[in-house]
Amino acid sequence: MAQALYRRWRSQTFEEVVGQEHVTQTLRNALRDGRVAHAYLFAGPRGTGKTSTARILAKALNCQAPEPERPCNRCPTCVAINQGRMLDLIEIDAASNNSVDDIRELRDKIHFRPSEGRYKVYIIDEVHMLSTSAFNALLKTLEEPPAHARFILATTEPHKIPATVISRCQRFDFRRIPVPQIVAHLRHIAQAEAIPVQDAALAAIARAAQGCMRDAVSLLDQMASYGAEAITAEMVHRVLGHVGGEQVMALVDALAARDVVAGLQLVQDLLLQGASLQEFTGQVVEYLRGVLLLQMTRDAHLLSDRSPEEVARLQQHAQALDRATTLYAIKRLSQALPELKGGEQPQLPLELAWIEIVQGEIRPTVAQEGPAPAPTQAEPPGPVSEEGQTEPAPSSEPSPPPPLDQEAVARLRDQWRRFLDAVRQRCGLKQQAALRSVRDVAVGEQMVVFAFGKNEFACRLIAEPQTLEQVARVLSDFLGRSVGLECHTGEQAVLPATAGRAVSQPKEVERPDPLLAYAVSELGAHVVETDPAPDPGSPSAGSPEEGSPGTPPGRSRAAAEQSLP
Ligand SMILES: Nc1ncnc2c1ncn2[C@@H]1O[C@H](COP(=O)(O)OP(=O)(O)O)[C@@H](O)[C@H]1O
Ligand SMILES: [Mg+2]
Ligand SMILES: [Zn+2]
Repeated sequence: MAQALYRRWRSQTFEEVVGQEHVTQTLRNALRDGRVAHAYLFAGPRGTGKTSTARILAKALNCQAPEPERPCNRCPTCVAINQGRMLDLIEIDAASNNSVDDIRELRDKIHFRPSEGRYKVYIIDEVHMLSTSAFNALLKTLEEPPAHARFILATTEPHKIPATVISRCQRFDFRRIPVPQIVAHLRHIAQAEAIPVQDAALAAIARAAQGCMRDAVSLLDQMASYGAEAITAEMVHRVLGHVGGEQVMALVDALAARDVVAGLQLVQDLLLQGASLQEFTGQVVEYLRGVLLLQMTRDAHLLSDRSPEEVARLQQHAQALDRATTLYAIKRLSQALPELKGGEQPQLPLELAWIEIVQGEIRPTVAQEGPAPAPTQAEPPGPVSEEGQTEPAPSSEPSPPPPLDQEAVARLRDQWRRFLDAVRQRCGLKQQAALRSVRDVAVGEQMVVFAFGKNEFACRLIAEPQTLEQVARVLSDFLGRSVGLECHTGEQAVLPATAGRAVSQPKEVERPDPLLAYAVSELGAHVVETDPAPDPGSPSAGSPEEGSPGTPPGRSRAAAEQSLP
């Protein structure tokens, strides 16, 4: 069998050690200045380059080439070390040779001069495994080492090493290697080895490796052994027993579309496939973390470990979801994680979390109690009691009694673009983008109503209490009088029956019956299904940014176009 990829690709020079520049640079400087310490402690997670670096240092100490070239990997000493037959390099695995006798033997021999090189180099791997008496014996040696001896102790668990030993060593902490650097290294190996692999697969491997280069290279090796076709991210997920990214996205799509049933169906499918729901949930949380990061910072650089396609999906979802929903979903799913351990109904905690995430905002209203609203709470989208009856009737006036302020409606339509700019200035880009979905406006004496067509995301975004108030303030300035704001979906803006005279704040408007609100939100989904228009459930179609910029709202497309300035 061919040599394992991770052995064949052991770093042979300081430059080849990926991601540990803080160590390799310091060692090179010490070599250059002839100030190499007597003993080093290399601490850090497995597979991050401790043994490789120790051997490179051993080579450099004994290399016959002039200093800047050390280790040259060509002189007889370097070659001997690379072939594992250099007598002056003594590697001890403390996991199997941990007794005091092993260390005493080391001590007895250490005083003999090196046979071939300048230095005898001792690499003691997993040094934390030494017994107490062995540590004491080692300490004596470290206290008075012969001039020709150098020690490199390596460990994954530095906290288990006596302080007396640590204090005799110069310590270096090896770090987990960042995903982009692992990806670059894997790509280099794949090219050299002619392994066909997709970028997304490299990213999936690198992420799964969690900073351990050895695992990353091994996984690439394993994937390559499966066949000649190009390695895909799908294959990587399958091999790792991960659920594919597609299913994670599907759940987040369902969340953006507020499609309870689709999510429950997905969970059921996963269960039938024998997928680990805990793993899946962890992946969803991880994904939503990326979404939240984008929503908080809008800085895609923080996602440098993701592939461009993934960043694009994340950005879509960052727009399709509101921040509160993302936050709550992360919290609620994280809460469900430890409960997903099996049991009679292994999917139940996930299903419950899912339902609460999607419908949670309705519950506090139903209960009519409790000062703490669910974190996703948004104002129910407007006078839903009317919305169900809304038929696309382009030219007819709204039927409810409150008088429309036609003049204000016209003014708002005429100056819609200016209004949007003002919203952008005072509320933000996202709010402005959401308002581009407004299809119709109704203005009463003290109340403005926006109809958002089918864009439920946009509607919810504006209907968030704080946003609602902010936008209402912009509107008030615009109209020169104090108005409240209501939002609902549908093509036609409908003033609430009570909005005609006395109501000044949207919150004081008679709240629609919560059960009715729920029914209508279900009804809304039904209406969407029977409509041949693009599916608002898909985040791109539903994304507020997709609306034609600055199109003023109108009763119909024709009306909207007529009122363009
Ligand atoms: N920093 C790194 N850069 C490049 N390859 C690495 C690195 N760390 C580990 N590897 C790969 O993993 C293998 C094992 O690394 P090793 O140096 O033995 O890690 P450690 O001693 O920290 O467990 C190497 O042969 C190499 O293929
Ligand atoms: Mg090692
Ligand atoms: Zn050499």
